[in-house]
Amino acid sequence: MSVAVAASNLRKRFISYERVGFIRKRKIVVEALRDVSFNVKWGEVYGLLGPNGAGKTTTVKILTTLLIPDSGYATIDGHDVVREAHLVRGIIGLVLYPDKGFYSRLSGYENLAYFGRLYGLNKSMAEARARELMKLVGLENAMNRPYEEYSLGMRARLAIARALIHDPPVLFLDEPTIGLDPVSAREVRELVRRLRKEGKAILFTSHNLWEVEEVCDRVGIIGNGRMIIEGSPRDIKDMLGLKYVVEVEVQVNGRVETIREETSNPADALRRVINNAETRGLRISRIRINEPSLEEAFVRVIKDEGK
Ligand SMILES: Nc1ncnc2c1ncn2[C@@H]1O[C@H](COP(=O)(O)OP(=O)(O)OP(=O)(O)O)[C@@H](O)[C@H]1O
Ligand SMILES: [Mg+2]
Repeated sequence: MSVAVAASNLRKRFISYERVGFIRKRKIVVEALRDVSFNVKWGEVYGLLGPNGAGKTTTVKILTTLLIPDSGYATIDGHDVVREAHLVRGIIGLVLYPDKGFYSRLSGYENLAYFGRLYGLNKSMAEARARELMKLVGLENAMNRPYEEYSLGMRARLAIARALIHDPPVLFLDEPTIGLDPVSAREVRELVRRLRKEGKAILFTSHNLWEVEEVCDRVGIIGNGRMIIEGSPRDIKDMLGLKYVVEVEVQVNGRVETIREETSNPADALRRVINNAETRGLRISRIRINEPSLEEAFVRVIKDEGK
């Protein structure tokens, strides 16, 4: 069985014009992607990370047939995204931000039913699917309100519902939780996990690294259009040699003192610190172990890249 998503040496440059003075324009070349390769397996959530302008959305657009790469190639379930674009569109679902594709006068439900028809469902099937999805994303109470009245979070939910309309095996979620309140964002993460359990392959982007760490099996960090580092959040922290911080608070003559140790082996460090405190006859009042976060890893990678 092929991998779900395979991207190989993707390269994309944009030609753009910037204004110089009032009328004159100067041509500029934006190297959006210089060399991006990665795979997403079935049943895996892959997080594509990187600072603003790194090339995440450009990558997503190439993989979802909205842009053609200058060189390199990509496949979805073995199908080439350029030569078999039509086939690829049938097996992917996409959430892009900002979303412009909805009809503002139609209700959320009508929008979904309409897209269901576009994907080849008959009228009653499209309507049933629209109803089911409105419920899945928690919009059943706003079913018949026009899209233009939807709040940011309601729009984000509707975008996810639309991505699922044809029950695609591969999903691209470009910042799906942007603008969502914490409870709704958590619901989206739960939905993502549920879809992964069904065996779907999911590419996920978000600037909330805590969230990424929670839902993604593997992440790839891109900067300046290049894949810089890739692996599970834990692997990446290990590769960068990020340390745990073990903190033990002890009572010394009625005062609180903190013993602090940076370590890559927190269990040993903790044992050592506790033994040390006990042999000195000190009472331990609090123990804390801070795990290095993906955010720390991200900041380190991007800083090193900038050098
Ligand atoms: N249509 C376009 N014309 C010109 N330049 C573009 C176009 N689309 C993207 N770019 C440029 O390509 C680069 C990558 O943009 P992209 O949208 O892929 O970044 P991103 O990683 O998604 O960033 P963000 O986190 O802000 O969403 C940026 O420098 C951007 O200005
Ligand atoms: Mg983007």
